[in-house]
Amino acid sequence: MHVSVFWTWLGLARLCLAEHGTLSLRTYRNHEKHAQALRKRDMEHLAKRSPFTVDLGNIDYLSGGFYYVNASVGTPPQEVQLDIDTGSSDIWMFGVNSCDQSKFLCAGGVFDESASTSITILSKGTFKIQYFTQGSGVTGDYISDDFAIGSQTINNLTMGVASKAVSVNTGIMGIGFDTNEAAYAEAIAHGETNVQPYANLLDVMKSQGLVGSRSYSLYLDDLEAATGSIVFGGYDKAKFQGDLSILDIQPNAQTGNYSDFSVILGSVGVTDSSGSTVLTTPNMPNIVILDSGTAFTIIPQDLLNEIVSYFGAVNDPTYSYIVRCDLNGMAGTLDYQFAGPTGPVISVPFSELAVPLIDFQGANPVPITDNEGHPICRLGLSAPSTPDEPLLFGDTFLRSAYVVYDLDSLQIGIAQTLFNVTDSNIQAITASAIGQSLPGNVASVLSTPVLTATPGLNAAPTFASGAAATSLETFGTGKGDAALVGVKTTYTNLATDIPGATATAQGAGSTGKKKNASGPSGKEFAGGWWRALLVQGVMVTIASLVGAGLII
Ligand SMILES: *[C@@H]1O[C@H](CO)[C@@H](O)[C@H](O)[C@H]1NC(C)=O
Ligand SMILES: *[C@@H]1O[C@H](CO)[C@@H](O)[C@H](O)[C@H]1NC(C)=O
Ligand SMILES: *[C@@H]1O[C@H](CO)[C@@H](O)[C@H](O)[C@H]1NC(C)=O
Ligand SMILES: *[C@@H]1O[C@H](CO)[C@@H](O)[C@H](O)[C@H]1NC(C)=O
Ligand SMILES: *[C@@H]1O[C@H](CO)[C@@H](O)[C@H](O)[C@H]1NC(C)=O
Repeated sequence: MHVSVFWTWLGLARLCLAEHGTLSLRTYRNHEKHAQALRKRDMEHLAKRSPFTVDLGNIDYLSGGFYYVNASVGTPPQEVQLDIDTGSSDIWMFGVNSCDQSKFLCAGGVFDESASTSITILSKGTFKIQYFTQGSGVTGDYISDDFAIGSQTINNLTMGVASKAVSVNTGIMGIGFDTNEAAYAEAIAHGETNVQPYANLLDVMKSQGLVGSRSYSLYLDDLEAATGSIVFGGYDKAKFQGDLSILDIQPNAQTGNYSDFSVILGSVGVTDSSGSTVLTTPNMPNIVILDSGTAFTIIPQDLLNEIVSYFGAVNDPTYSYIVRCDLNGMAGTLDYQFAGPTGPVISVPFSELAVPLIDFQGANPVPITDNEGHPICRLGLSAPSTPDEPLLFGDTFLRSAYVVYDLDSLQIGIAQTLFNVTDSNIQAITASAIGQSLPGNVASVLSTPVLTATPGLNAAPTFASGAAATSLETFGTGKGDAALVGVKTTYTNLATDIPGATATAQGAGSTGKKKNASGPSGKEFAGGWWRALLVQGVMVTIASLVGAGLII
């Protein structure tokens, strides 16, 4: 997720607005200059105005949430791998010597500006972006060059090339609204009115006639899968269950403009062998942002607390909540219902919430296990660390959902994903006027924006990195034995049925639900091996690799 309040962090006194004006102007001029060429290309490409699919790779040891595309930039083509990010809107890659390999992963290759014959340097030194990951930041040049993904080449695309990148593991392919481009958002935040966003990847794909609409669909597949896919200009009917349910994208409550994939979350519940419980909280309904660049799902603190005690997760100083990867055999789903009470429900299997912890110290990355050899995982949920941080729904949610992002109709199509599907049945999204709907089940649209979205109640606890393993001392006491507080119910679900929910259909009263999950015992975790790991600071080292990749 990109942050627009960037300059305070960098300590730069003020923003040079003239530069942004200049950039917009240059970009605009470029477009004018090539308008004729583009029209010609449009004609040539009319036949191509159809959806196309690009494979996604997943480097799963990066918190189970690093989905990349292979892209090539410039002439001759230079290969780079870019993290695909629905939460930001700029594409950038590492420039030569822009990333300090002694401190960061610096993965995915480097683009050498001087080696491309088709490059235009639009503006030197003015590309700047910061992400929610604490301390992250990228500065560099704006360029225009050819950009190829899958079978398609996009000509003269505006992109960033880093001259310095800090706490960001890879280059990033932001595919959000152009109104969320770092330079534009920053200029608007500083009261500039005479600025335009530049045409970003989706704008240019459409204007160059590669696709019929500014839309795409993401299939991340399950935690175990090494690949996923993205369909530009369409969606893949083979990859989800039932119909797509349609959610209106919510405009920014302050500006009224559309700048991110905000949708309304109605409730959060848990389904296990004893039925479904909707967790009670004053924090619903709420706005959540669908963000593939975030590895975890960020939910209000009170809900997190309940779910943490339900799983018997342990609060570790470095990783926040850890669980045994097999969740001690607990089975069930975490159920997110969108829009209103008849809105679609996406059920995330518990197993999708346990994100493996990996030790990078040896020759090969290996899973971290407890004394008895059980792999240890992070619970893939967290809470906002400051009250104004948004609820970002990242990969531990998105893997269980098939999501269609339609920036033209300002709608999200969502359905329960089908894991491990290799078939495909691609449908084009051609409607391109605002207000035209995605094909799908429209009954669940809740068009009233929630203007008073409340973030989590409390700030998450903070820990000094490398702190003593105090939480492990108390491990196993009173954990894994928590009652879920909520309303026993069954879901009316337009997207999918929740297994186990029907058993409690008539029990619509308020009941607490007791789940005796035998959480991992203190003995297993508090062993010398685990402690030594913390004392040696190895965990901290891993955290500096993995933690930095958490939220993009
Ligand atoms: C990216 O390219 C590399 C090298 O050609 C290949 O091994 C890998 O499978 C590709 N990944 C994807 C997601 O296309
Ligand atoms: C891209 O820009 C370059 C340099 O400005 C120009 O020569 C070329 O024709 C442009 N290509 C397209 C397809 O517009
Ligand atoms: C909202 O959009 C309008 C035009 O679409 C633009 O003039 C205005 O500056 C935008 N406001 C913000 C805060 O982005
Ligand atoms: C998908 O396939 C992988 C192996 O390729 C397997 O580990 C995983 O359990 C499968 N997931 C489901 C939901 O069947
Ligand atoms: C849950 O566990 C506690 C002790 O850990 C036990 O006293 C209680 O009877 C158990 N409840 C159920 C429903 O199994």
